[in-house]
This record gives sequence, structure tokens and C-alpha cells, in this order.
Amino acid sequence: MDTNKSLDLAAQAANISPILGRYMDKSWSHGIGHRLYDTAGNAYLDFANGIAVTALGHAHPRVTAAVHAQVDRLMGPVHAIGFSEPTVKLASMLADTMPEGLDSVLFLNSGSEAIDGAIKLARRVTGRAAIIAFRGAFHGRTIGATSITTSSLNYRMGYEPLLPSVYTSVFPAVYRYYAGDEERAIADALKHLDGLLMTTVAPDEVAAIVVEPVQGEGGYYPAPPAFLRGLQDRCHRFGIMLVVDEVQSGYGRTGDMWAFEASGIVPDVVCVAKAIANGLPLSAIVSTKEIMTAWGKGAHGTTYGGNPVACAAGVAVLETIQEEGLLANAKARGLELLGGLRELLADHDEIGDVRGRGLMIGVEFVKDRSTRTPDGQAAEAVIARARDAGLLLLSCGTAHQVIRWIPPLDVTVPEVEESLRIFEGALRG
Ligand SMILES: Cc1ncc(COP(=O)(O)O)c(C=O)c1O
Repeated sequence: MDTNKSLDLAAQAANISPILGRYMDKSWSHGIGHRLYDTAGNAYLDFANGIAVTALGHAHPRVTAAVHAQVDRLMGPVHAIGFSEPTVKLASMLADTMPEGLDSVLFLNSGSEAIDGAIKLARRVTGRAAIIAFRGAFHGRTIGATSITTSSLNYRMGYEPLLPSVYTSVFPAVYRYYAGDEERAIADALKHLDGLLMTTVAPDEVAAIVVEPVQGEGGYYPAPPAFLRGLQDRCHRFGIMLVVDEVQSGYGRTGDMWAFEASGIVPDVVCVAKAIANGLPLSAIVSTKEIMTAWGKGAHGTTYGGNPVACAAGVAVLETIQEEGLLANAKARGLELLGGLRELLADHDEIGDVRGRGLMIGVEFVKDRSTRTPDGQAAEAVIARARDAGLLLLSCGTAHQVIRWIPPLDVTVPEVEESLRIFEGALRG
């Protein structure tokens, strides 16, 4: 394999738009399994995974073989022309992972596009305009998704007027705003939502409530199960659609196939992307046949969504997760990682909190444990030192104060141990 040794791609990237933010500006050559190689030949244990995208690591033999076979066979009739085998198969497999009734799948290309589609679906089907989302949420970059995103001002500044009839309610970020008191967080968030529905927007004008079961970009704050049940309760009471954004938290990331499962809720609409095709562009909106039918033929569409090559990769991903027991692996490795990271709390006051489920874990850095003032600089410094020592990690949170741990779903015990060793060294400086 040509590994492009020592090629500095950043120096040759004059024609790449500077608009894109980057966690790092390294030049990557190739990836094998859980290692990513730069063009100077250095290997990194990749716990960034393109932000939870390459959930089976790089060049996964089964995914790669499926892609090669499909490229040779048929690269792409579009939806409008008819059906292709991998697209039909993945829809059926995806429906089988969902609660009963959520069996109708619309494939699109990105997480943002799935969110925008879900907003259109909810508006058209309910005949209502308003959308309620939550403070700190990240739903993407298209104009609809931007309108319900509040994890950072930079995602919104200069784009007003955004979508009208969007309302933001309080998210129960238990550690950040409620000092670890989950009950108080849930009560406060639901009280705020009820207040919104009583004083600001009439319930029968609300099309959808959109929520991440684990807030991602916002700081890896899991939504308490009782909060999600509270949302479902209000949705049932007022005929509002519950749209769950599983773009980052789904696909086995939390040890369940879908993060909402831990709360026992059944959403009306689920948005899926990122890990679905291990890196190829693919996303999906999943709902009931009744809702999808009510949306209306031709009410929405796509040219590339459901591309057969991306779907062939998707079939291989889902078969691998199921046949190799990767949900159980995510749970078990997640517990080891969580335990190892929590042990560090004793010696490191700069860590305020370690939280998460499965392989979606956040380590929050603070200037002071009692005030919980976010310390993004400390988190970024640790990430840089870990990278220099061969471990790729990413930050999240409004002040970049949280280090997110999103290893591949098939991460091994020795890799978990290696990552903890490197991280501990990076903390020491
Ligand atoms: C929860 C969530 N929703 C939506 C998106 C947007 O997805 P995409 O970048 O594929 O448009 C992201 C991306 O990070 C996300 O984390």
C-alpha cells in the first residue's frame, strides 16, 4: 500500500475551504482496524472514529468486501427509478431493530438531512407549525437543523432569521446545571416544558418535540429515562410527535441498539446516521407506515439517499453488530472504561465528572469541583498530549470542556487498557 509517507496535506490544501472547523489538522494516510496512520507513518489508536462514524474501525474486512462487491454490481439507480437489493434489505433489517410499528424507512444522506426531513414530516402530517427542542442540543447544519441547535452560538450567528415557530426548552443536564441531583433536573426540565406549553405555545400548535437521548456535541449529557418518559407522556396527551435524534447515540453506542430503549419510550420518529454505513454517507428517518403514508407521496425526496453501495455497507455493519455480539461488547468494555476513568477522579481534581453508558462516555474538566466552572483549556491540553502519545480523542461541550470517549464497538480489553494508560499519562502532563 502506498502510505504517502511524510506528505503534508495541510500544506497542499489551499483549495479546501477554510470554513470547516477541525479538531486536528493532521494528514492521514490510511486506517487498519482501530489504528489510524498519518502520512509520517505514526499509528494512533482511533477513539475519535470520525466522530462516532467508523464504529467498526477502519477497513473492516466484511464492510470493505460488501462495498467492493456492490460497486462491481450496481452503484446507483436512484429511488425515483426503482428498488435495489441492499437498500430494501437494510430497510428491513433496520426496521427489525426498532420497536414494533416503527417499520417504515426513508434513507437520506446525512444526519442534518434526516433532522430536516423529520421536521417537514411532523409539520405536514400534524398540520401544525411549532417545534420544541432543547437547550444545548446539536442537530446539524442545514437551516432546519440549525434552527433547533443551541449547543454553540457559532452554529447560529449570522443566519437569522432561522426557521420560525421553534421553541427551546430546558434540558436536564444533571451534572452541569443540577449538581448531580437527577430528580431536581427532571422536575425542573418538565416544569419548564409545561410552562412553555401553558404560556408561550399552545400544545395543539406543536408538531414535534425533538430530543437527543444523550446530548452529544452539547457535552455528553444523558437524558434521564424519566425525562424521556415525561416527554412521551406530553406528546401522547397533546398529539405531538416525539422525534428522537439517534444520529450520535444510536447504533449500539450506548450498549443498546438505540439509546432511547433504556427509558422504555417508543418514539414516533427516529433519525439515524453516522455509524449506519461505517463511513459512507447514509442516514435514515424511521417511523410507522401510517405516518409515512400520511406524509404523502412525493412530499419529500432524495437523489442519492439509499445509495446501494452505502446500503451494502450498512447491511454488513448491522450483520457484524448482530453476529459478533457487539452490543454486549459495548456494554462490557464500556463498564471497564467507565470504571477505569472513575478511578482517576481520586487523584485528579480537574476532572469534575465521568458519566455515560456503553461506549458513549464523557469526562468533564472543571476549574473547581464545587463551582463546576468548565475548563476547556485543560481538556484540550490533555487531548493534545494523548494524541502525541498515540491516542485520538475528541472534545465536546459548549466550552470544549468534555472529553468524549467513543471507541469502536468492537474495541478489545487490551485496547481499553492501553487507552487508559495513555490517558493517565496525558493527565499527569
Ligand atoms: C445528534 C446529532 N444530530 C445530527 C447531527 C448532524 O449530522 P451530519 O453531520 O451527518 O449532518 C449530528 C452530527 O454530529 C449529531 O451528533
